[in-house]
Amino acid sequence: MTAPRIERLVTSGQFTLDGGTWDVDNNVWIVGDDHEVIVIDAAHDADAIAEAVGDRTLRAIICTHAHNDHIDAAPALAERTGATIWLHPDDLPLWKQTHPDRDPDAHLLDGQVIEAAGADLRVLHTPGHAPGAVCLYDPGLGTVFTGDTLFKGGPGATGRSFSHFPTIIDSIRDRLLTLPSETEVLTGHGDSTTIGAEAPHLEEWIARGH
Ligand SMILES: [Fe+2]
Repeated sequence: MTAPRIERLVTSGQFTLDGGTWDVDNNVWIVGDDHEVIVIDAAHDADAIAEAVGDRTLRAIICTHAHNDHIDAAPALAERTGATIWLHPDDLPLWKQTHPDRDPDAHLLDGQVIEAAGADLRVLHTPGHAPGAVCLYDPGLGTVFTGDTLFKGGPGATGRSFSHFPTIIDSIRDRLLTLPSETEVLTGHGDSTTIGAEAPHLEEWIARGH
């Protein structure tokens, strides 16, 4: 078996919450080898994601949280591949806003390790941006997938419903900034960063309040 690798696909669509809609580009992360893969956040375009997966087996679709822009293509992708959709149960109310008739297949729980496609993804429950937001840390790959919890430049947004700034700060401080400083941070939107590049700015984020 070849070593797992990480591929990035960017898809475009819209984010809708609290009556507002915004155009967004999302990172879809594909982790695996020549034979099987995991998709982290099936955003916007099931056809494009299926094309990127190719003839490899899709083992799982893991949702970092249930904002519509991160999950809108998950049921369609699961339908055509048979992959299991994983979501933290605290985000079921958000999930149902987008997919009222189709529940996720399995619940993500803090501390769980999802072993597939040569990766070992440890689930870190990191509420704040959303109640059921998770990050996925693979020590072997030296990588954490942070969804919308931590970006290059600071925490994810907490100004809308289901979000809470003090909670995201606790999650980032206690669960993410404690990872090795060289850990690559692969985000739900935009550029990657590292734990070491972000950690010195925690007090600035707290002072500015977002
Ligand atoms: Fe989000």
